Amino acid sequence: MKHIRGYESALSGNFYSYEPGKIKYQCDKTGENLDVVYDYDYIKKHFNKADLKDSRDYSIWRYAPMLPVKTLDHIPPLQIGWTPLYKSRKLGKNIGLDNLYFKDDGRNPSASFKDRASAIALVRAIEDGATIVTGASTGNAGSSMACLCASVGMPAVIFVPEKAPVAKIAQLLIFGAKVFAVRGTYDEAFDLCLKVSGEFGWINRNTGYNPFTREGKKTCAFEICEQLEWEVPDRVFVSVGDGNIISGLWKGFRDLFKLGFIDKIPKLYGVQSEKSNSIFLSVKECKLDPDADIRICTVKATTIADSISVDTPRDGQMAVRAILETDGDAVQVSDEDILDAVKLLGKNEGIFAEPAGATAYAGVRKLALMGDLPEDETIVAVITGNGLKDVSSALKVAGKPIGINPDLDEVKRYIN
Ligand SMILES: Cc1ncc(COP(=O)(O)O)c(C=O)c1O
Repeated sequence: MKHIRGYESALSGNFYSYEPGKIKYQCDKTGENLDVVYDYDYIKKHFNKADLKDSRDYSIWRYAPMLPVKTLDHIPPLQIGWTPLYKSRKLGKNIGLDNLYFKDDGRNPSASFKDRASAIALVRAIEDGATIVTGASTGNAGSSMACLCASVGMPAVIFVPEKAPVAKIAQLLIFGAKVFAVRGTYDEAFDLCLKVSGEFGWINRNTGYNPFTREGKKTCAFEICEQLEWEVPDRVFVSVGDGNIISGLWKGFRDLFKLGFIDKIPKLYGVQSEKSNSIFLSVKECKLDPDADIRICTVKATTIADSISVDTPRDGQMAVRAILETDGDAVQVSDEDILDAVKLLGKNEGIFAEPAGATAYAGVRKLALMGDLPEDETIVAVITGNGLKDVSSALKVAGKPIGINPDLDEVKRYIN
């Protein structure tokens, strides 16, 4: 892969050359996550905006020259990415924003943003000769990996907390993964999965730990800019669990900036529940003491938004950097705000989001109602997961149907 130079550690910047056929997970000296380093001069010679204009590939693979894949021979056949970017018709105006957009990533094959990451992790695994892929997940990353593995015949072994929403477990099983429902938290499932992949030598897709998850997630930033005809949004809001989506968005905007496709980088906002607010607390500490090293706080997560219920974010350092270096912010909202956002998005925009998927909009709403967002700016809220994944949470705010006999007069009584 001539367009890839190697890896750099998240904070200390230690560099490792890329070794073909071998994945490198962490910095040998510090244990930090790694970030893939590209040769932008090489990419510039082989890829430009005009190529995109002519492309009829409406998926993440339209950006292949900026992705860590050797060829397109092993890509999953399912359509990943190029999800719709809708301009808000009602919710933006209701909170005083003229240009609010929703990027609906619940429209991916397994119904979450995670398909972007799984796709790249899977192709890298195949190109590196893997025979089994494993991963730990709050539910979406695992069901996504299982879905894409099923599409290419790669065995998947997935670890989830046993309390993961039933729809996500159903997805995992239907996609034919070997599923371990761990009696414990997501963080415990994550650590167990690390031990298992170490023991058996399987490729590990764990979020952030596998450096290629961020590379898949960055494609959302590419799409946002292209779908806005290269008008860069002023601010992008996204929910945060491990922090890998927000660090992926940052990487995507930085890639485009370095290639000269865009001339600024949006402010990135990470939104969390007050009941799982590690990044919120960590950003607050960094702002109080800007010269200190980034330290990631550990919390006891209990939010209803299961996908972002994380004690110790595994890509926390890069998430905090993404927020601070783009002059964005971390926002915390209540679980009630999150459920309200699920209802508002459904009723006013026709978008059904799971709680973690609606959290970005809950953050936009909170800041807009506080008067903290200029009305004419372009703001994107990334909707990261589909509401059908967690119907029991949606039913908490959905209201109830009207029970009637099959009788027209009864209907008339209600209508009148
Ligand atoms: C629907 C949804 N939203 C947001 C997130 C948070 O992503 P990250 O853990 O990369 O911060 C996840 C992660 O599982 C998710 O599934």
